[in-house]
Amino acid sequence: MLRPLVASDAETLASWAIDPVFCAHAGWTLHPSVDDAIPWWRQAIAEPDPLLTRLLALHDGEPVGHVDLYGGEEGVRELGFLIGPSGQWHRGRGTAAAVAGLEYGFTELGLSRIWAEALEANVGSVRILRRLGMRETGFGAVEEFLGASSTYLQFSLSRDDWMADRRPE
Ligand SMILES: CC(C)(COP(=O)(O)OP(=O)(O)OC[C@H]1O[C@@H](n2cnc3c(N)ncnc32)[C@H](O)[C@@H]1OP(=O)(O)O)[C@@H](O)C(=O)NCCC(=O)NCCS
Repeated sequence: MLRPLVASDAETLASWAIDPVFCAHAGWTLHPSVDDAIPWWRQAIAEPDPLLTRLLALHDGEPVGHVDLYGGEEGVRELGFLIGPSGQWHRGRGTAAAVAGLEYGFTELGLSRIWAEALEANVGSVRILRRLGMRETGFGAVEEFLGASSTYLQFSLSRDDWMADRRPE
């Protein structure tokens, strides 16, 4: 389940910024304390980037991550997702958040296409994108992931294909 961020979510989101494993995978700056990371999140929630729809991912009512739909092109957004802290990984939360992100984008936002990219070395993320039924469209930039150079794999899904996938046989 997804819901919009509210001011009091800053503490939860900031708490993931002291988890070295999470920060290394997500590309976040590791903070020395939760309090140190709170101001950034308060600001990000109070004054969001107008091109970004960021939603909190919930499991049993508790925050477990966030989903992003980003971009300025009409009817098109980039999907991003993360699950925090790292102790929450490998329980299907990332897949559930990404599935919910697609549903939100195609229904609530009325998008016609959603794309995404993940570094090849980010195995969990690539697995999720493939599982969503997104079409692999090519390669993006090269970036460092956990100390090694890796290439972005890019994915895309049209609303028509998403709808067709959901229709019962
Ligand atoms: C990527 C991320 C969202 C995965 O979250 P998660 O809750 O572990 O996801 P799931 O439990 O749904 O796992 C998805 C699949 O990836 C696998 N997986 C997850 N992390 C993995 C890892 N580090 N190495 C290998 N496989 C991994 C899982 O085993 C699962 O595969 P399976 O169901 O076939 O066994 C999480 O690791 C994260 O937030 N990473 C940092 C941010 C990020 O990379 N976001 C994606 C950018 S688009």
